Amino acid sequence: MRMKAMEVPFFDLTQQYRLIRDEVNAGALQVMEDCRFVLGEDVNSFEREFASFCGTEYAVGVANGTDALRLALLSCGIGRGNEVITVPNTFIATTEAISQTGAKVVFVDVNLSTYNIEVSRIEGAINERTRAIVPVHLFGQPADMDPIMEIARKYNLEVVEDACQAHGAEYKGKKVGSIGDAGCFSFYPSKNLGAFGDGGMVITHGNKIAAKIEILRDHGQLRKYQHMVEGYNSRLDEIQAAILRVKLRRLDGWNKLRRKNASIYNEFLEDVDEAVTPSEAEYAKHVYHLYVIRTRRRDELQEWLKSKGIGAGLHYPIPLHLQKAYENLGHKEGDFPVAEECAKQILSLPMFPELTREEIEKVVSEIKTFFARH
Ligand SMILES: Cc1ncc(COP(=O)(O)O)c(C=O)c1O
Repeated sequence: MRMKAMEVPFFDLTQQYRLIRDEVNAGALQVMEDCRFVLGEDVNSFEREFASFCGTEYAVGVANGTDALRLALLSCGIGRGNEVITVPNTFIATTEAISQTGAKVVFVDVNLSTYNIEVSRIEGAINERTRAIVPVHLFGQPADMDPIMEIARKYNLEVVEDACQAHGAEYKGKKVGSIGDAGCFSFYPSKNLGAFGDGGMVITHGNKIAAKIEILRDHGQLRKYQHMVEGYNSRLDEIQAAILRVKLRRLDGWNKLRRKNASIYNEFLEDVDEAVTPSEAEYAKHVYHLYVIRTRRRDELQEWLKSKGIGAGLHYPIPLHLQKAYENLGHKEGDFPVAEECAKQILSLPMFPELTREEIEKVVSEIKTFFARH
């Protein structure tokens, strides 16, 4: 009998579910038994627990990570006529949130070793309309927050951290999201902390920002049918909160496993000169939402892996300044060369806590075979 070759998925949520099934099922069922579905005791408790996990005073649950960013920016007073600085190599949600406040997106290129905002280029993008910086902690690696905060204080700018890919990551011992004026998280199912649907959270030390988001997420209501402003319908629901409470208790353990898997990849890939492995900045505790290598033969390598039953992804193949959606900003190829190089060369390999050493070995052995033959 011929053995079927081992396949390695890009990620696999089923294994995690099996481990926590009884607890999450019980949490979700209790919400149904109680018939309390919106902004109830599980959302309250999860907000408290997530704030405590991140080391902030406040956390406000919202419908998704995009809304977390949009409501955080709005509550910082960002809107029409303002400019907000961010990076071109992120998921479009970061810039959608900025544009949807009425502000203009201003891109700054990234650093080739961290893939995060190139701090030395920020001041060159600031003018009298600039009101905020949105650093993105891409792939789970923290952006260099100290100099970002220094620039922000110098020019009186708000800092809204996009921590949607970096739950539990640390910058000099502090949890990301807790350093700027507000930190935003997505609980999209595949994130390091993922719900069973959509969810999001804003964390902050500022009671004014937290209070504004609480009003904005619920139709501008302070109390039922007392609308202080026009708001949004962007609430975290009770079932998701009940599930996220169970999963939050395991997040540190899962991040540890992701870090271990990253170090196994690094070790196995050390002698593969054609692939640049991710670097962890000396100030960072990276949580490897994605394990991303860089290679000139990216497209061929992805095809090769696919033909061997190995999932690999592109995050992201077209930088935002070259997307049709941002034609209005008038950018052209060459404007942000590092982000453009990343878009052409990066490849995300399978990464999730339950990935085994054997599976990583299989991925790396196929990468080695590819480079030996091509
Ligand atoms: C960097 C980044 N920002 C924002 C978001 C938006 O989160 P959501 O999908 O929950 O709206 C995501 C995730 O999808 C993301 O990866």
